[in-house]
Amino acid sequence: MSSIRHIAVLGATGSIGGNTLNVIARHPERFRASVLTAHRQVDALVALCVQHRPALAVIGDSTLEGELGRKLAAAGVRCDAAAGHDAITAAVSGDLCDTVVAAIVGAAGLDSTLAAARSGKRLLLANKESIVMAGPLLLAALQEGGGELIPVDSEHNAIFQCLPGGRPDLGKSGVRRLILTASGGPFRGRTRAELSAITPDQACKHPNWVMGRKISVDSATLMNKGLEVIEAHHLFNAPAETIEVLVHPQSLVHSLVEYVDGSVLAQLGNPDMRTAIAHALAWPERVDAGVAPLDLAAHAALHFEAPDLSTFRCLALAFQALRAGGDAPAILNAANEVAVEAFLTGALPFLSIADVVESVLTELPPQAVVDVQSLTERDRTAREAARRILRNAC
Ligand SMILES: NC(=O)c1ccc[n+]([C@@H]2O[C@H](COP(=O)([O-])OP(=O)(O)OC[C@H]3O[C@@H](n4cnc5c(N)ncnc54)[C@H](OP(=O)(O)O)[C@@H]3O)[C@@H](O)[C@H]2O)c1
Repeated sequence: MSSIRHIAVLGATGSIGGNTLNVIARHPERFRASVLTAHRQVDALVALCVQHRPALAVIGDSTLEGELGRKLAAAGVRCDAAAGHDAITAAVSGDLCDTVVAAIVGAAGLDSTLAAARSGKRLLLANKESIVMAGPLLLAALQEGGGELIPVDSEHNAIFQCLPGGRPDLGKSGVRRLILTASGGPFRGRTRAELSAITPDQACKHPNWVMGRKISVDSATLMNKGLEVIEAHHLFNAPAETIEVLVHPQSLVHSLVEYVDGSVLAQLGNPDMRTAIAHALAWPERVDAGVAPLDLAAHAALHFEAPDLSTFRCLALAFQALRAGGDAPAILNAANEVAVEAFLTGALPFLSIADVVESVLTELPPQAVVDVQSLTERDRTAREAARRILRNAC
């Protein structure tokens, strides 16, 4: 067995962060959480530090630095404390970790994900928004750093497992299609009329997965699957026409790979993110994830159906952005983040999330992705456009 992995868990207080720490704690002889970060939840971060004893804790909101230091001391935790966006990026690049779990939600995770890629460490990618925004830049950073990316998103982790040696290059693998499964979210089978008065709490009640609120809304609109299509395109060098989405309400088949000889390989398991996280942490070995064995006889039937693109327009918009190329996926992502936030605060109806995204994509034709600075500027422009559209709609 290899030596102990020192792991930076970015977004430690979130859903993926919690699942990652759960797996780490099961294997103290293999894994150590050496850096933990959060955004504003100081108390939750301190509680995790009490339990996992990292070398460094970082709070993203720099106004909370003093409070973090005081509370760590009061809890008897002897670890360094730092604050601010740049401190998270610096922690990723430093020598406290050899593995980075990128589990910050949204575009806020871009800089730290890129820094992890550049530093040549093992990058466990959960923060799909960063690869959607900056796919070519992230792949270039990975090549520059010489490290490895193991996908944590369950669908991409499944595809990684179904490719020979996890080879992330479709062209060389005899692959015909990547088939991403989607649960269909809490509103599968509903009509547009039935979705007009959906509340945030209804949207966040996913039938199979327990997740953060942003990704839960994305799952309900199917934008999450759209982001995953773009993620798969970059991770596996797969053209849009080789990626398909298949609704599978039980969420037991996490995705499939079809080969030119007609073979279709699938990865199955209970819907529990610890499987993908444990796989990515231990790869190429396997460790116990604490996940219950899959009882297929108890489930009896597995169902599959095509997605309803006219009701769940966000998925169609994501395919449109992927085909448009350039920074269209970044524009899509920025508009979606603003629209989802507005929906979660009650300022935008559920069905209007797609309207806002479509309007911003129409207003801002794609430009080439050149560097992080220009991409960040375009992200800002798209957010401003989305906010203006929201103001005008109210
Ligand atoms: N949850 C899942 O099952 C799942 C599955 C596949 C992929 N993913 C992806 O994984 C990522 C995390 O999802 P999640 O569901 O774990 O989200 P979550 O539960 O909302 O947690 C988000 C984490 O990010 C931190 N954070 C938020 N804004 C930040 C900022 N501006 N700067 C620094 N840290 C910030 C939060 O800190 P505070 O707690 O202090 O706010 C929290 O630790 C997302 O990109 C999601 O799409 C999630």
